[in-house]
Amino acid sequence: MTTDGIGGLRERFGRSLRLGIVGGGPDSWIGRMHRGAAEMDGWFRVVAGVLSSDPERSHAAGLALGLDPGRCYGSAAEMFAAERSRTDGIDAVAIMTPNDTHYAYSAAALDAGLDVVCDKPVTGNFAEACDLARRTRERGRLFAIVHGYSAYPMIRYARQLVRDGTLGRVRLTQVEYLQNGLATMIEDGPLTAKQRWLLDPARSGLALVMGAIGCHAQHLASFVAGLPAVRVAADVGTLLPGRKVVDHVSALVEYEGGARGTFTATQASAGAENDIRLKVHGERGQIEWSHRTLSYLTVAMQGEPVKTIGRGDLYLPPEILAAGRTPRGHPEGLREAFANIYAEIAQERIARSLGESIPLSPYPRIEDGAHTMAFIEACLASQAQGGWAAVAKMPGH
Ligand SMILES: NC(=O)c1ccc[n+]([C@@H]2O[C@H](COP(=O)([O-])OP(=O)(O)OC[C@H]3O[C@@H](n4cnc5c(N)ncnc54)[C@H](O)[C@@H]3O)[C@@H](O)[C@H]2O)c1
Repeated sequence: MTTDGIGGLRERFGRSLRLGIVGGGPDSWIGRMHRGAAEMDGWFRVVAGVLSSDPERSHAAGLALGLDPGRCYGSAAEMFAAERSRTDGIDAVAIMTPNDTHYAYSAAALDAGLDVVCDKPVTGNFAEACDLARRTRERGRLFAIVHGYSAYPMIRYARQLVRDGTLGRVRLTQVEYLQNGLATMIEDGPLTAKQRWLLDPARSGLALVMGAIGCHAQHLASFVAGLPAVRVAADVGTLLPGRKVVDHVSALVEYEGGARGTFTATQASAGAENDIRLKVHGERGQIEWSHRTLSYLTVAMQGEPVKTIGRGDLYLPPEILAAGRTPRGHPEGLREAFANIYAEIAQERIARSLGESIPLSPYPRIEDGAHTMAFIEACLASQAQGGWAAVAKMPGH
């Protein structure tokens, strides 16, 4: 439910939620995506920000984005403290900084009593993600991770076809995510600021390709199949000789209950764009989805003609139709998917504030992020030990 709210939720609350942003200055494409998505349906208004690690640049960037000069801050700590003392202070924070800062900013935001929308990878490791899950729970906050691909209407519908039993028990998932950003030795040339932090493992995380795109692929497969991974046998390394960061991971996956999976993520695929493919095979049929045709889902049931289902097809369930905003045949994309995540966390916060309960929405949560970090650690352990490695479970799960 995106624009009109659940039963007039926003109207009863009386205002949009106020969002502070950390990172995502005018030079960051994902920053523009977040800001547009947060405000798309009016659930949030961006009112404050820290847009650079340099206080002067942060202030200038905030002004360039049209923020109130008094709410362009020099650091996240300053923003959390100043906003807390305002009667119209921020309700939530969205974090879209380089990877190595996500954990500290998220922990500080939760401790400041704010809900968090954080970009991926959510932390530097599994232990940190478990810590954020604990803080989220103990402080009574909400925590969304921006796996935008999981919020496309047709991915939501694919998940529903698994959940309602249409496909039967899941037997196999196949997911691949291919990009071309590391298809040449960019390390040898002049680097942009973004490439500098990405190519520094101390800043980009446990395995570059997993923090960049593999985390999305892992989440997508588990999200649609409705199954956590329990063990992996992974090949973690580089496709380009001499490279020092991980540009490729392929893995066999075993899910809870015994379903199998194959997983490939690489940024060294010459000619690729942002190519994500997912197939989920059940006892009665299979579904297939590709990012190049993101508004369509192919459903092939055993013994029946193959169907192509499009976003906006009028027989789709209301909650799937509500995850889109325009009539059939009009393009929608990642910004709308991000907006679904923002809408859902806002609705949950507003419902809680009003003392009302609404159905649990499927936006990715900190527990999903912890599972992703455990998956990445298991891939690295599998590579190091040369065989299957268990995917750790969060304490109490
Ligand atoms: N969900 C997605 O699909 C998706 C896509 C791209 C990037 N991302 C994530 O977004 C994050 C940022 O990536 P990017 O491509 O925008 O990087 P980038 O280097 O292009 O931009 C980073 C931005 O953050 C600002 N910044 C850096 N350090 C900061 C700090 N300490 N405090 C405040 N602002 C700071 C920079 O000034 C810049 O505006 C990464 O974690 C990346 O994984 C997610």
